[in-house]
Amino acid sequence: MGTVPVSVFIVVAFVSVVMRRLSFVNGAAIPSTVDGPFKPVTVPLDKSFRGHAVDLPDNDPRVQRIVTGWEPEQIFVSLSSTHDSVWISWITGEFQIGENIKEMDPKTVGSSVVKYGRWRFGMTKKAMGHSLVYSQLYPFKGLQNYTSGISHHVRLTGLKPNTFYYYQCGDPSIPAMSDVHYFRTMPASGPRSYPGRIAIIGDLGLTYNTTSTIDHLMSNHPNLVLLIGNASYANLYLTNGTGADCYSCAFSDTPIHETYQPRWDYWGRFMQPLVSKVPLMMIEGNHEIEEQIEKKTFAAYSARFAFPSEESGSSSTFYYSFNAGGIHFVMLGGYTDYNKSGDQYQWLKKDFAKVDRKVTPWLVATWHPPWYSTYTAHYREAE
Ligand SMILES: *[C@@H]1O[C@H](CO)[C@@H](O)[C@H](O)[C@H]1NC(C)=O
Ligand SMILES: *[C@@H]1O[C@H](CO)[C@@H](O)[C@H](O)[C@H]1NC(C)=O
Ligand SMILES: *[C@@H]1O[C@H](CO)[C@@H](O)[C@H](O)[C@H]1NC(C)=O
Ligand SMILES: *[C@@H]1O[C@H](CO)[C@@H](O)[C@H](O)[C@H]1NC(C)=O
Ligand SMILES: *[C@@H]1O[C@H](CO)[C@@H](O)[C@H](O)[C@H]1NC(C)=O
Repeated sequence: MGTVPVSVFIVVAFVSVVMRRLSFVNGAAIPSTVDGPFKPVTVPLDKSFRGHAVDLPDNDPRVQRIVTGWEPEQIFVSLSSTHDSVWISWITGEFQIGENIKEMDPKTVGSSVVKYGRWRFGMTKKAMGHSLVYSQLYPFKGLQNYTSGISHHVRLTGLKPNTFYYYQCGDPSIPAMSDVHYFRTMPASGPRSYPGRIAIIGDLGLTYNTTSTIDHLMSNHPNLVLLIGNASYANLYLTNGTGADCYSCAFSDTPIHETYQPRWDYWGRFMQPLVSKVPLMMIEGNHEIEEQIEKKTFAAYSARFAFPSEESGSSSTFYYSFNAGGIHFVMLGGYTDYNKSGDQYQWLKKDFAKVDRKVTPWLVATWHPPWYSTYTAHYREAE
């Protein structure tokens, strides 16, 4: 059995919370789809999750800025394309919102440093990264502009597989370093080597139901979290911070579909306890489009998250791939060209050609919009 490659191609579109165990029991291999059919395990939808989701308000303690000065906040880990490398990301400084705001120059305030090591009192390694800011501008009377704190991304390399690392991020010269956090690397790629648990979420938001989803997820101790689009829902707000429950009807009398970018900062703070430990892999959804001045889109998405795009040969934050043990994940972009003449298609062909099913027997592809849908929402959107 050991020599039979385990192969499956899964399209994960909208999954509320799926916890999947991919581990080996006493060295026995995972059955392949051809060993099936298996009885599907289905958990009935908890109807109380439907509708009436209430957003966490801006005075909820979980979304407050609790750091001072240039201390890092909204800290999170994401994976590079192979087990020996991860990204650490965080925000420093305060966002501005309102009239006549001025973008910060990330070069004038500090550097992006991560100190790390295998022991809490032996964080002797040091990596440097880059930083950037983004703005969300609306050239319309009555609308407010936003400019972000400084978003930092640092790539750590040379990591051992399946190993805990402690880290601190920030700028040691100010000094403004974070508390000590830790993460665990993925196992090395191979047909008998898998992360124990992978959580897949979509349409997360920042509601009281989000808190139960994340509590549930954390109590299941995932090794990796995939977020298949629709994260903060900052675009369900007007720029004055007033929320709008209904996406399609709330913006009829405003010149553009507005957003309230501080919701992204609240979301980053809320997520930190989980994602400062467990790597989070994000791919864009329709709520990340967030059109602004000059038809610019996806500004928050592209600035706040780190993506292993370059490492996986992609020239875009909209699609990339990575390995987690014996799984090759392909994160596809549903909101950029995906026809045969587009860059994504060309990249995907090259990416598939590089896959060695003896090393990564599982190939999992995800994207946000459902590929086929007969339901009223997203009906035939991608066909
Ligand atoms: C927001 O920025 C745009 C582009 O710079 C500008 O036209 C607009 O007046 C600004 N709005 C406010 C409220 O400052
Ligand atoms: C979802 O949130 C609503 C409103 O806060 C609440 O009434 C409902 O019980 C929540 N559902 C679950 C499963 O937590
Ligand atoms: C925000 O703007 C909307 C629409 O103009 C208005 O109904 C609402 O009261 C405003 N909220 C605040 C906090 O000013
Ligand atoms: C592929 O997509 C691009 C960009 O959306 C478009 O310009 C082009 O016409 C499309 N080509 C085909 C063959 O559909
Ligand atoms: C994303 O969010 C919207 C809610 O506005 C929802 O209608 C949509 O189904 C979500 N998921 C997908 C896969 O688009």
